[in-house]
Amino acid sequence: MREFSIVIAGGGSTYTPGIVMMLLDNLDRFPIKTLKLYDNDAERQAILGKAIEIVLKEQAPQIEYLYTTDPEQAFTDVDFCFAHIRTGKYKMRELDEKIPLKHGVVGQETCGPGGIAYGMRSIGDMIELIDIMEKYSPHCWMLNYSNPAAIVAEACRVLRPNSKVLNICDMPVGTLRRMSQIVGLTPKDLEVRYFGLNHFGWWTSVKDKAGNEYLPQIRDYVAEHGYLTQIEVDTQHMDQSWQETHRKAKDLLAVDPRFLPNTYLKYYFYPDYVVEHSNPEYTRANEVMDGREKEIFSTAKRIIEQGTSKDSTFLIGSHATFIVDLACAIAFNTHERMIMIVENNGAIANFDDDAMVEVPCIVGSDGPEPLAQGKIPEFQRALMYQQVTVEKLVVQAYIEGSYQKLWQALTLSKTVPSAKVAKEILDDLIEANKEYWPELK
Ligand code: NAD
Ligand code: G6P
Ligand code: MN
Repeated sequence: MREFSIVIAGGGSTYTPGIVMMLLDNLDRFPIKTLKLYDNDAERQAILGKAIEIVLKEQAPQIEYLYTTDPEQAFTDVDFCFAHIRTGKYKMRELDEKIPLKHGVVGQETCGPGGIAYGMRSIGDMIELIDIMEKYSPHCWMLNYSNPAAIVAEACRVLRPNSKVLNICDMPVGTLRRMSQIVGLTPKDLEVRYFGLNHFGWWTSVKDKAGNEYLPQIRDYVAEHGYLTQIEVDTQHMDQSWQETHRKAKDLLAVDPRFLPNTYLKYYFYPDYVVEHSNPEYTRANEVMDGREKEIFSTAKRIIEQGTSKDSTFLIGSHATFIVDLACAIAFNTHERMIMIVENNGAIANFDDDAMVEVPCIVGSDGPEPLAQGKIPEFQRALMYQQVTVEKLVVQAYIEGSYQKLWQALTLSKTVPSAKVAKEILDDLIEANKEYWPELK
């Protein structure tokens, strides 16, 4: 079987060890010749890099491996780039969350003003990464997880329309896993219909392969428990705050019980609730720094100290299955059905052609082919139009260096109460992001 060469961009990411473990678990269906890590923070990456080196020596010594901060070395002769970078790291995520909260507005990694600020930081680095990839390995595909995926995807559409970049999110698959538990099946048994934007969508059908519809059964469960399930097979989305988010889905469902909601709608439907239940001094970024980041890096340090991963190993990243499935779909033309972020072009019949939407696609060697989802109701359509316009304005503001457009984006966001508050948040965000954003005029 053909062997593939992979570079993981954002080698120092807390998700890197989980992805590597997932790749090791799948070598029979996705054989690897070379694995490289690439990051622009040498010190951070070296800790995970060294630990992974030890794991690979013990579990798959045949794989050629290196970690580097040199783009040429990283991107030469690779077939896939799995990208999950975070421009500004957790220090800036913390500010994305705390600055809006200071003004009484939702403080979130990808939604509202925090997501907009993160988007303004990510666009430049992502475009640079794509250009590096195309320079050294023109045939390479980038499977991109870097957030905020909606804004990054729109920037790719506008700035690099012909690049082989697929923008993906693990929330729909993660929630599908919960749905499959609710009905006593596995995610692979289920086929869904879904429409929306990234972190902003709805399931309209969840069927098994024989065509039996489970949506009413799942709906009854979600109306009572949200997506909280008894059996937990997720290594991600398990902290207390995530449990509350899964539970809150029941209140999202109540707004339109016809469809099953994406958990991220909570920030748009219940921003007042979210703000009331946030601690402006201790947000999700703090939770992650004190939790996942500490755990991953201390495990890595232990492996390095002991010179072996026998006693302390990394967990397989459950969300990484999606990446392996996607890489296989492209490599082996499997035509697997997967939810992806793609240019609409009629997939949602009554929505703009040039909007980046999230819909089920058939994925093969040429990438994703979106499946038609028909017409959507006016409530969802209006919400989506508002949100997709926010995302478009951010990308335009970035390209044009326009203060006006970024102010409009913030004003239009459903999470922000007025143009006045939008301006106050914007001025604080500009100050905090001086190192990262283009100058706005
Ligand atoms: P992290 O801060 O632990 O890791 C990000 C790494 O990227 C850091 O090591 C950092 O030094 C590196 N980096 C930053 N800019 C870079 C650049 N220009 N080139 C190379 N490396 C760069 O963050 P994390 O929590 O592990 O998350 C990583 C990314 O994955 C984030 O963007 C996060 O939002 C995203 N994510 C997305 C999904 C999804 O559904 N799409 C799911 C999980 C995580
Ligand atoms: C989900 C989303 C990602 C997001 C992540 C945040 O997986 O799909 O887009 O980055 O949650 O999780 P965290 O644990 O970092 O708050
Ligand atoms: Mn996501």
